[in-house]
Amino acid sequence: MSDSKDNLVMEKLVSLCKRRGFIFQSSEIYGGINGFWDYGPLGAELKRNVKELWWNTMTRQRDDVAGLEATIIMSPEIWKASGHVATFSDPMIDCKTCKGRFRADHVGEISCPQKPSKMVAECHGEKTEPRAFNLMFQTFVGPVQDESSVAYLRPETAQAIFAQFKNVLETSRQKVPFGIAQVGKAFRNEVTPRNYIFRSREFEQMELEFFIKPDEVVEAICGQVAVPLPGATLTDPQPDWGWAAWHQYWVQERVRFYEGIGLSRETLGFHVQTPAELAHYARACTDILFKFPFSKRDENGELKGEELEGIAARSDFDLSQHARFSGKPMGVFDEELRAAWGKLAKDRQDDIWKRYYENRKGYLEKSGVAFEAASRQATEDANGLAKGQYIPHVIEPSAGVDRLILALLANAYSEATDTDAKGKSESRVVLKFHPRVAPIKVGVMPLLKNKPELVAKALAVRDLLRPWMNVFYDDAGSIGRRYARQDEAGTPFCVTVDFDTLGEKPELKDTVTIRHRDGGRQERLALGDLLSWILPQIR
Ligand code: GAP
Repeated sequence: MSDSKDNLVMEKLVSLCKRRGFIFQSSEIYGGINGFWDYGPLGAELKRNVKELWWNTMTRQRDDVAGLEATIIMSPEIWKASGHVATFSDPMIDCKTCKGRFRADHVGEISCPQKPSKMVAECHGEKTEPRAFNLMFQTFVGPVQDESSVAYLRPETAQAIFAQFKNVLETSRQKVPFGIAQVGKAFRNEVTPRNYIFRSREFEQMELEFFIKPDEVVEAICGQVAVPLPGATLTDPQPDWGWAAWHQYWVQERVRFYEGIGLSRETLGFHVQTPAELAHYARACTDILFKFPFSKRDENGELKGEELEGIAARSDFDLSQHARFSGKPMGVFDEELRAAWGKLAKDRQDDIWKRYYENRKGYLEKSGVAFEAASRQATEDANGLAKGQYIPHVIEPSAGVDRLILALLANAYSEATDTDAKGKSESRVVLKFHPRVAPIKVGVMPLLKNKPELVAKALAVRDLLRPWMNVFYDDAGSIGRRYARQDEAGTPFCVTVDFDTLGEKPELKDTVTIRHRDGGRQERLALGDLLSWILPQIR
């Protein structure tokens, strides 16, 4: 378990988030609703920055990823095909004494809904046997509430990407390998929401489905499949990459993303799923962990970390399922494969054909298709190789927005101690957000608020910066107090307009003081250089 010092950090963080307007309990005036959280003014900016940075990195900065924004409610057939209707459940137990309802694998780790950072002592009464509880929220579409109108709030954003795969392929001029990215709400009726916004019932995901050629196709085209050395840095995708190289690449890309927004390598961990943990269709899954204050500690006292994001190699399972359930083809035509196949020696063709056939038959049989029908379908699929046809495989980096917000808050939290002239010390919070994610980029302040020239100039500075970033204008209280308020909000820079800005010392006219949140260093900068100085640091 995490120790009491770690719990104290969480308590301080939760209280700061409420006091400064990062996160509020949903429906607080009615006593709250367990597992739902609202983002206040600073939280909303932080969240928006995180989602925009992800979107920019994953789509706009790349040639090989297109975006999608699908609906939350979709055809319930989608959730049958994906397996969610049949198997998306957690083991639930009831306590016969206190009537509490718990997730069987979370017993002893129940967090208090009123104080989410606190683990409440749990009743030791007799428990029922675990039973499966489906996590999808149900609703009805249309005026009649019966079996035929049941629909679900999506429990992940991924399935819409698979369902729209063909439409995106046909309209985006992409060719495999390429990805489809989506950011949006997901809903899970978690049995025991816990650890503040870490596990909630309504949350947001940032998911990429990156479609790749099956290894057999890469081999047919390139003559070989590159096998990455474990730990080798992969930054430059190559045509001979198979699923293992693409998986390693995406794990590393995602770590590079986290480092780029201030989560250092030391704050992260990895969990490589064992064969027993993997879904039957998955070839590998690596979870990127963040060492939250509530994470368990290992035998050396080091925080182990909790899942921030999972990167799974999911084979061709998802597209194959949707092809079977919808009756619509989900394969692609690849001219390069067709041309390469014709040039392969017969024994090479036979060898690749056989392996593709075995993989397809394996999938079909595991999905419940009878032996003969599976053999027939697998033969048809393998025959498709000669015509340049195959069903793409997928690598899925799937991250939670809210978990990342909590990681960024925990990572940023620090305390500074100020000592006044009389030797009295006071401790205060400084949120050391990376400037890219900081909710407010710059605090703009006139040195005094009762000097109209200072105020007018400071307002002009605010208006200069405002079209480019979130700026907070503050003229209330001593300058020290104003800096402290911005430190607590995590604002990386403050710009102060003083008498020198107005030309009291002529050589300093039209310069401002930049005060750095980290370390409190101050420097003087010409107003004309201000924007070009700030922009590269916040993008
Ligand atoms: N499409 C794959 C998928 O949804 P997942 O591991 O169930 O995989 C992906 O979820 C990510 O979504 C997790 O790594 C986590 O960051 C986030 N997530 C999942 N359940 C969550 C919950 N109840 N509350 C907050 N975030 C959650």
